[in-house]
Amino acid sequence: MVFYFSGTGNSRFAAERIAEAIGQKAEDVTAYKKSGESPVFTEGGAYLFSCPCYMSTPARSMTEFIESATFPQGVKAYFLITCAASLGASSRVCRELCEKKGMEYMGASQVVMPQNYIALFSMKDKETNGTIVNEALPVIDHIAETVKSGGKLDDKKVGSAEYAVTKWVRDLYYKDFMKTKKFLATDACVSCGLCAGICPMSNISMTDGKPVWDKNCTHCMACINRCPKDAIEYGKGSVGKIRYKGPESTLK
Ligand SMILES: Cc1cc2nc3c(=O)[nH]c(=O)nc-3n(C[C@H](O)[C@H](O)[C@H](O)COP(=O)(O)O)c2cc1C
Ligand code: SF4
Ligand code: SF4
Repeated sequence: MVFYFSGTGNSRFAAERIAEAIGQKAEDVTAYKKSGESPVFTEGGAYLFSCPCYMSTPARSMTEFIESATFPQGVKAYFLITCAASLGASSRVCRELCEKKGMEYMGASQVVMPQNYIALFSMKDKETNGTIVNEALPVIDHIAETVKSGGKLDDKKVGSAEYAVTKWVRDLYYKDFMKTKKFLATDACVSCGLCAGICPMSNISMTDGKPVWDKNCTHCMACINRCPKDAIEYGKGSVGKIRYKGPESTLK
């Protein structure tokens, strides 16, 4: 089975490409979260989880999904971590999660994809992002081949000191920096409601035709990047920056 969590489409794109290669369908884990159910899976074989790297660790929306779900003991678990530069300490988080859940850890591979963290960084232009996505394709295909053959992915060893620091920074970041106070909709907003519809945390509601952000945000950057009118800003930091519209938008 293939699962993904994705804000701006990178991890969904990779998951769907792999699912197609192995004759399966990729499922969005946010659908389970929204339904409020803790899923029970009974299918044996291999499970692949695809999600972005947030603060050098797999996005919490994915790890929480895995923690909440029940899987048959001993199934093979593969992890695909999309990132702008490096998966950091993700492999150790995934390995420990597998130990907890009784799954066989088959490795965590990084797939470098376009940067989407517009609250902190500038987005690359479409052509540069197109090159990044094209270079990622063989990496994704290699992961698909490995899953198909039942082999192990190349894995990064993460030392205890690196792991401890990473977890400390990540926890602090989730607690103190993933805020929504800076999000605002400008006059360019046409009240289409897309931002509210795509938010994986159901954190945006429409009031008088304008989006209003609640406090349950995971900084996935879907709303601000994917607004069709580029009408969302994150304080002054995002003004004038190119938006990242997802991997498909970069391919010719
Ligand atoms: C909150 C946040 C934290 C991020 N942290 C990292 C990081 O630690 N390392 C990295 O290489 N990329 C980081 N990125 C970039 C994303 O991992 C990357 O763009 C990813 O492919 C986005 O996936 P998506 O389109 O499926 O949401 C971060 C992005 C966000 C929004
Ligand atoms: S996606 Fe953009 S245009 Fe549509 S409601 Fe949200 S802010 Fe307004
Ligand atoms: S409100 Fe937060 S979680 Fe929702 S789409 Fe925007 S950045 Fe993502």
